[in-house]
Amino acid sequence: MRRIDCIEPFRVMQLLERAKELESTGRKIIHMEIGEPDFPTPRSVIEAAKAHLDNGDQFYTPSTGAPELQQALSQWYQDEYGVAVDSKRILITPGTSGAFSLIYAVLLEAGESVLLSDPGYPCQRNFIRLAGGNPVNVPVGPENRYHLSDSLVQQRWQAETRAAVVINPGNPTGTLINPDELKRIASACRERDGYLISDEIYHGLTYGTRPPCALQFDDNAIVVNGFSKRWAMTGWRIGWIIVPEALIDACRRVMQNIFIAAPTLSQHAAITALKERAAVESMRLAYDERRQFLLRELPKLGFEIVVEPQGAFYIYANVEKLTDDSRTFCWKLLEEKGVAITPGEDFGTYQSDRHVRFSYATGMDELKEGIRRLSTL
Ligand SMILES: Cc1ncc(COP(=O)(O)O)c(C=O)c1O
Repeated sequence: MRRIDCIEPFRVMQLLERAKELESTGRKIIHMEIGEPDFPTPRSVIEAAKAHLDNGDQFYTPSTGAPELQQALSQWYQDEYGVAVDSKRILITPGTSGAFSLIYAVLLEAGESVLLSDPGYPCQRNFIRLAGGNPVNVPVGPENRYHLSDSLVQQRWQAETRAAVVINPGNPTGTLINPDELKRIASACRERDGYLISDEIYHGLTYGTRPPCALQFDDNAIVVNGFSKRWAMTGWRIGWIIVPEALIDACRRVMQNIFIAAPTLSQHAAITALKERAAVESMRLAYDERRQFLLRELPKLGFEIVVEPQGAFYIYANVEKLTDDSRTFCWKLLEEKGVAITPGEDFGTYQSDRHVRFSYATGMDELKEGIRRLSTL
């Protein structure tokens, strides 16, 4: 099969298209399918961007990023996690998606593989395939809070494996990995001359426990993060990746060629975002209120939440009591009740027909209406 034929569509987009079609006929649809903050970007960030444009700087930055942003992020790691990271190791990318296409291009030779959790963030598999690699989906369940474990990594690691990916908090599950387990996975990867890749895009959106950064355990870990979620900046397309010193040169060469540099305007706005505390905290509190509401209401309707999510804005629910085919179930909910949620099949194949994902990146009134409609199932 040709490489491009292995790239799967993001199925939730098909659901979203149908939802929009229904809306165009005048129906009100409750959106709990999309993982995009419903809040506007903080005002201070928008003002900083306007001022930057007025200063007339529309030029490329260095490929690895504006040095001011790299330094601000280096300070951020010191303040947030107490880890010293040389700013040269922090590479600025067009979204974390840019970081993933970069790192797999650098790490993978044809046929090499990467361990991923199933369920997991679906685009990962396709980034790896595009780089000529093989994604290895490792089934995970409530016993590991839906994360890879040290023993799974050890069992599944092969001669051609280059890395294991942990998304913490997880998408689609919102669960946090046990910090000791993360530490052990980091060691297991290092002992095998491979890398732990830690996707920390939902850091800062946690409710109760603050997860550690993988760099607190292993200076060799590759950390990916971005401004899309915590700072509500999806459309600004800005993220970063922290790589070990030995990979900087290879990354720089790839960056120079494939995207030249991340958007200048967004990089400068991001420096202000790092200083914005109040707006970010009020979004976090609003998400937590919504999370608690759904955690109370969904089980009453037969959606079983086996592991309580402590982060991101997702709830992964078991729907065995309601259906044995979550895809048909979700399409029916959309058509008959006007409620959009994502079927498990978007996140992998392991028990996917028994699961759905709710996103609470949508207002409280909408969520209440969604629950009202679901209660008439
Ligand atoms: C786990 C995870 N990683 C990465 C991304 C990509 O984010 P972006 O490219 O906007 O930074 C997403 C988006 O939903 C995500 O859920």
